[in-house]
Amino acid sequence: MVGVPNRDSAVTLLVVEDDPAMLVALRDILESAGYNVLTAPNGKIALDILENARPALILSDISMPVMDGIQLFEAVRKLPRGMATPFIFLTAKGTREDIFAGKMMGADDYITKPITSHELITAVQSRLQRADEIMVAQLKEAYKASLRTLANAIEARDHYTRDHVERVNAYAQALAMELGWDEDRRDALEFGSILHDIGKIAVREAILCKPGPLTTEEWAEMRLHPEVGAHMIEGIPYLAPAVPSVLHHHERWDGSGYPHALRGDAIPEDARLLAVVDTFDAMTSDRPYRPAMEFERAFEVILEESGRLFDPTMVDSFQRCWSRGEIQRIAMTAEPTKPTHLSSGSRQSAKS
Ligand SMILES: [Fe+2]
Repeated sequence: MVGVPNRDSAVTLLVVEDDPAMLVALRDILESAGYNVLTAPNGKIALDILENARPALILSDISMPVMDGIQLFEAVRKLPRGMATPFIFLTAKGTREDIFAGKMMGADDYITKPITSHELITAVQSRLQRADEIMVAQLKEAYKASLRTLANAIEARDHYTRDHVERVNAYAQALAMELGWDEDRRDALEFGSILHDIGKIAVREAILCKPGPLTTEEWAEMRLHPEVGAHMIEGIPYLAPAVPSVLHHHERWDGSGYPHALRGDAIPEDARLLAVVDTFDAMTSDRPYRPAMEFERAFEVILEESGRLFDPTMVDSFQRCWSRGEIQRIAMTAEPTKPTHLSSGSRQSAKS
């Protein structure tokens, strides 16, 4: 016997079954497992119930009078609130047609009667858990999409940094994969990549877009953006893992960076990785005060600065990605019109 599920006891299920004895049996089993159970003898009454209730899962017989399970499934999927509701077919026949119909319709699964209490509860629990996992994954993607929109809106103030966020994130993920970082670490890095320059919202557009060298005062304002950005997101628990990237992406391996002039391993690892790819993208993008540097030259600059401005581990990873052509592929895919022929004889640095 499966125990009471580790879920809120208020979880409501809708069971649709025309056999009264079977309906009572199903309801009793599920109620004993801690679920609230709504019941209906056919699809039509189930739809009536759905006008006022929002069950977490629907378990429905296929062959029923008035409206059968397949018609009910089609109707539920057309309801705005029913599109994502887990739906399990329950069939006495277990015929190939029933199974085929259930699978073709996109139902989450089917259960063939007779069924034990254990099988029923396990099936319901696993479908609910899967629905939860899908919802969490979708929420995560929605968060990222919103953040990307916000970051791009901020970047858009400086027309020369178009797609910077996308490219930095793609480069960063390539390096992290190369370093064998797990999914959680790569997720945190993605948020850091998306948000690293979010503090530029506080920098005046006249400075961001200035077509010449910045004055000392203007530099001071520009250099506030890591701290402003970190302050913006530090109160949001979901974004907390991105704070080190945002705050420290301008720190440099030799301690010459800002805002805290951290040195070597004292710089958070995400920020050390981001420093390499952020600088590479800045060098290879047109800026108001200079044209883009060609990729090969920018690559050489990154190598030259290994152990000085950049963590050698991160530069090694960058070099391996470059050797495979991955960096070049990302650069060209993200911005096909990016100039590749412009060359600069001297070292250029990012104005940020
Ligand atoms: Fe920055």
